[in-house]
Amino acid sequence: MAATNGVALSWQLNLSQCQIPRLIFSIVSRPEKRKAVKVINAFLYCFKAVILELRLLAEMVISAVPSIEMVRFVNSGTEACMGVLRLARAFTGRSKIVKFEGCYHGHADPFLVKAGSGVATLGLPDSPGVPKAATHDTLTAPYNDISAVKSLFDDNKGEIAAIILEPVVGNSGFFPPKPEFLDATRNITKETGALLIFDEVMTGFRLAYGGAQEYLGITPDLTIRGGLPVGAYGGRRDIMEMVAPAGPMHQAGTLSGNPLAMTAGIHTLKRLNQPGAYEHLDKITSELTQGILDAGKKTGHAMCGGYISGMFVFFFTDGPVHNFSDAKKSDTAKFAKFYRGMLEEGVYFAPSQFEAGFTSLAHTAEHIQRTVAAADKV
Ligand SMILES: Cc1ncc(COP(=O)(O)O)c(C=O)c1O
Repeated sequence: MAATNGVALSWQLNLSQCQIPRLIFSIVSRPEKRKAVKVINAFLYCFKAVILELRLLAEMVISAVPSIEMVRFVNSGTEACMGVLRLARAFTGRSKIVKFEGCYHGHADPFLVKAGSGVATLGLPDSPGVPKAATHDTLTAPYNDISAVKSLFDDNKGEIAAIILEPVVGNSGFFPPKPEFLDATRNITKETGALLIFDEVMTGFRLAYGGAQEYLGITPDLTIRGGLPVGAYGGRRDIMEMVAPAGPMHQAGTLSGNPLAMTAGIHTLKRLNQPGAYEHLDKITSELTQGILDAGKKTGHAMCGGYISGMFVFFFTDGPVHNFSDAKKSDTAKFAKFYRGMLEEGVYFAPSQFEAGFTSLAHTAEHIQRTVAAADKV
């Protein structure tokens, strides 16, 4: 690395650096912050050192999320899931993992088994290009099915490193855990020396400032997060100290902890931490979900749905939906018709019955009223 006249070069090549400051400034909106950001970041988006923003964001994440005592930033949810899988295996010395049908943990090979999100939308059983050996140690069970999880642990004694799950599922539509389900996963992992991993790429900071684990009152061993090109995993200090350079488990990334993503993260968390942020999300999402369900039911469609904070769904089936098999009972042709109709009205929902919807602090009561009025027409 070299620095001359305020231009710093990283260990890796930064081509066309001139575009980067403009991008940073379009994300960092507060004028007084711009100056500080300019000093640290000008012409610099990949700098392999602990920068101020990285420290600050790490402190904010650690104080927000109950399970996180140490955190590692990466560049995407997929990368965080890959890192956490290696960590769980390194810490326990075991190789098998339990994942749930319809949950999505990024596109790394070991997770492409009965996955949700785009894999479910396109009806792909698994994915071509994934060798059998890569998924040999991935065991699956239906979500909310405790006895299936117990059977897996009985059949694979001392071999399971971790259970990984979405604490509220958002990749097969959206459905919450039955209260006893998460308790059971916590107990069985504790009893057997396996780790419990919450993939909070969707639910983190969305359901509550401390994520689904704060909202539901269950603390996992490790947690995964995601956002504007950034991902993170963190958890118990004794586990995280396995990760290099503190410990022997290798995991690194050229752009990890880059100033652009860190700055965006800090600003997002500051906004979310303002009084009334989650009350606003709760209010508009409740009105939106109820409004759309009422509109559908008025015209005789079989529908069910629900929401928690800024996350919602409506399924074209009577329900109830507790797992991926239930979600698949939805009339997807009807969903597609509704989706296209809403698009014509200027409302852009996620283009699949198997994705959760999200509201944000940018949405106002007026946006919600317009959306419900559009649903009434469609
Ligand atoms: C729960 C969950 N985990 C992991 C991922 C993968 O994240 P990314 O797309 O950033 O790689 C996603 C993406 O939607 C997700 O919803």
